[in-house]
Amino acid sequence: MTIATLEPKVESASGKSVSIMRALVYRTSGNGPGKPSWEDQPHPTIQHKEDAIVRITMTTICGTDLHILKGDLPAVTDGRILGHEGIGVIEKIGADVTRFKVGDKVIISCVTACLKCDFCRKGMLSHCRNGGWILGNLINGTQAEYVRIPYADGSLYPFPKDGDEEAMVMLSDALPTGFECGVLNGNVKPGDTVAIVGAGPVGLAVLLTAQFYSPAEIIVIDVDDNRLGIAKKFGATKLVNSSDGKAAENIMKLTGGEGVDVAIEAVGMPATFDICQAIVGAGGRLANVGVHGKPVTLHLEKLWDRNIALTTRLVDTVTLPMLLKVVLSGKVEPAKLITHRFKLNDILKAYETFGNAAKEHALKVVLTNS
Ligand SMILES: NC(=O)c1ccc[n+]([C@@H]2O[C@H](COP(=O)([O-])OP(=O)(O)OC[C@H]3O[C@@H](n4cnc5c(N)ncnc54)[C@H](O)[C@@H]3O)[C@@H](O)[C@H]2O)c1
Ligand SMILES: [Zn+2]
Ligand SMILES: [Zn+2]
Repeated sequence: MTIATLEPKVESASGKSVSIMRALVYRTSGNGPGKPSWEDQPHPTIQHKEDAIVRITMTTICGTDLHILKGDLPAVTDGRILGHEGIGVIEKIGADVTRFKVGDKVIISCVTACLKCDFCRKGMLSHCRNGGWILGNLINGTQAEYVRIPYADGSLYPFPKDGDEEAMVMLSDALPTGFECGVLNGNVKPGDTVAIVGAGPVGLAVLLTAQFYSPAEIIVIDVDDNRLGIAKKFGATKLVNSSDGKAAENIMKLTGGEGVDVAIEAVGMPATFDICQAIVGAGGRLANVGVHGKPVTLHLEKLWDRNIALTTRLVDTVTLPMLLKVVLSGKVEPAKLITHRFKLNDILKAYETFGNAAKEHALKVVLTNS
């Protein structure tokens, strides 16, 4: 008997009975802000031969989900099940999936990859012509009891034998995002002075993985003293609270007027992008990680002669297998970023906690579904 047959069934409009599950749905009356809602939804089914249906055992909430609720990502429409991170067990599999079987435990990448298109073949999985970042965005996501994963062979990774779920769930998105969009794109080098604006899970993932390259200074900037304190424990050499609006000035002072070699934006707001523009030194790199819903002003009148590079990136998760080895070795401990644990059916409380992170002293929140 499959687990699906144990699910409650309801009559659909066509009169056919469909299994239902519980899921976190984005509800909005149009373009603009919306609300999370915990609802009954149809149990996902195999639609293509490369699909897998995964029973979620752990999922989490990303800063990007907060941007969706704010209305920053208009492509996400009313009724979408959110979530693009998770661990689970394969419940059903399409006929053409070759790398996995029913019962396998898997890490779900936030990026869906067909592995066959031109973008996939050059390693830019985020722009896969048949996938990319679609989970919890253009198709239903992982903040649910079950999720359909298209192109399972390219979008799932085997859960390692001795893996810890709380560490492994950070490989779905946060850790590869910090590393690929921040550290690799920012070209962090030994001896560099690095500034990370935003000490959320993604900014802290930048902090953890920047240390692979032994930068001399890592300055972390946030408005939340609790998160700054955690950054200090994870290796930040200097902390700047930017709530007084003087972050750029303070960082210029800290660097003797030189600015930083690498400025990494991990918030997604004009004000924080502006800090990065103001502090990047000659020959420096500005790596944007944050999801932006509003335009920023690019100050070329100040930057044109500074020999800087500006990068943007949607995470590809191509470094997930490498980061998995580092995490298993114990050299990086991303599970330490988890501050709150909830049952999946308490996800609305989890959203409140993550959305009021400063008040709740929250960092990464995880949801379990056992
Ligand atoms: N490029 C990608 O592929 C990708 C992938 C995942 C997440 N993201 C983005 O990365 C960003 C961070 O994600 P997260 O999960 O850490 O989010 P988060 O919301 O937990 O963290 C954002 C942090 O920014 C801080 N902040 C807010 N205003 C500030 C200001 N004025 N000055 C300094 N700090 C300020 C907050 O206190 C918080 O600590 C988000 O924009 C998210 O959408 C991008
Ligand atoms: Zn994310
Ligand atoms: Zn592809």
